[in-house]
Amino acid sequence: MNRLSTPTAATPFTTPWGTFDLTRFPEDPRERLRAWDAADEYLLRHLAGESDSAQGEATELTGRTVVVLGDRWGALTTALAAALTTASTTPSTMASTALSTAAPVQISDSHLGRQATLANLARSGAAPDAARLLTTRETPPERIDVLLVRVPKSLALLEDQLHRLAPAVGPGTVVIGTGMVTEIHTSTLQLFERILGPTRTSLAARKARLIFCTPDPALDPGPSPWPHTYALPGDIGPASGRTVVNHAGTFCAERLDIGTRFLLGHLPVAAPGARVVDLGCGNGVLGTAAALASPGAELVFLDESHQAVASAEATFRANLGPDAPAEFLTADALGPDAVPAGSVDLVLNNPPFHSHQATTDATAWRMFTGARRALRPGGELWVVGNRHLGYHLKLRRLFGNCELVAGNPKFVVLRAVRR
Ligand SMILES: C[S@@+](CC[C@H](N)C(=O)[O-])C[C@H]1O[C@@H](n2cnc3c(N)ncnc32)[C@H](O)[C@@H]1O
Repeated sequence: MNRLSTPTAATPFTTPWGTFDLTRFPEDPRERLRAWDAADEYLLRHLAGESDSAQGEATELTGRTVVVLGDRWGALTTALAAALTTASTTPSTMASTALSTAAPVQISDSHLGRQATLANLARSGAAPDAARLLTTRETPPERIDVLLVRVPKSLALLEDQLHRLAPAVGPGTVVIGTGMVTEIHTSTLQLFERILGPTRTSLAARKARLIFCTPDPALDPGPSPWPHTYALPGDIGPASGRTVVNHAGTFCAERLDIGTRFLLGHLPVAAPGARVVDLGCGNGVLGTAAALASPGAELVFLDESHQAVASAEATFRANLGPDAPAEFLTADALGPDAVPAGSVDLVLNNPPFHSHQATTDATAWRMFTGARRALRPGGELWVVGNRHLGYHLKLRRLFGNCELVAGNPKFVVLRAVRR
């Protein structure tokens, strides 16, 4: 293999509308993974009429409502913002015309993805209004002319979002999906078919594929089957038999995770008035169980996924009532923008070991670091994890202590105290 031709995180993203130096979020100089891939490139080349499947014909973007669903780190949004800015710049004056109607609309579930998009737009020199960034929970545009879908890892999220966007898609809407070959399955295409209309795929190029869907106005896909609700098992302490609400894309949306279950069996009780953070809350099962076990505790639910935070709020409300006080935050780890330093008594955490298609312990490390900063002296971080992940080493390095609360052949519950 020619090592020089292997793209690295620093390889610029070359598109028909310019070359961009993109970053993931948070920016890390040691990062080896790029913020774009061949699926992003393929879609943009197709839109510019430069792919085999486009047969020389560019997709009309100017003056149209272009929606990008599931853009990972803002590569598509940044390039399209440049495309639409170029298109709306008059050659005589080279002055940019108003962008509010031309700006691409990004719809993303990820706080990290949104922060990366903001950073990448700024790096590209784009104006602050060069793109409109919406979350998967916000009302989408009423009419969509061009719908571009970066196929998400979660089929459930795709299903739910296609249902949400279907009313804005008309017979004239151009719908194109993109993904790496390994990300596009028969079930992915069936979703497009079932919710929007007839669907076919392109030939693969550099292990990426496009999805072409022709909206069928006669199709009635019915309502989204999300959110899903399930009841917790009967032997897990104060949360036994309680309801868990899961919006699409949330971790373990169909049943309780076995690691989470192990921590539920060993959950500490917090004093009245104690501030407890469910860090990486997912559907909020840990924080809700803590609230049930510790009357008077103040709960904070935090996740980088908007779908997760909405699920946690729904789970908490279903069990503690509509007016019970709690905070629900979409943020990265437990950084300075989330809660003040030294303000928290207890952090509960089942860290992810996958982040955005990559297997990494970087997020766990950021979560432990954030927890240490957020905890008051004497405050505790309780972590559940696979035994083989060796979280105790990280916790000992950060906190100077780490105690094994419970273990089974697969999982450990660890406790670290902020001295
Ligand atoms: C293993 S799941 C645990 C979910 C839930 N606490 C449970 O036990 O069922 C990890 C969660 O961390 C969230 N997460 C991933 N990266 C994050 C980050 N940088 N900041 C905050 N939450 C993050 C994921 O969205 C996911 O909901």
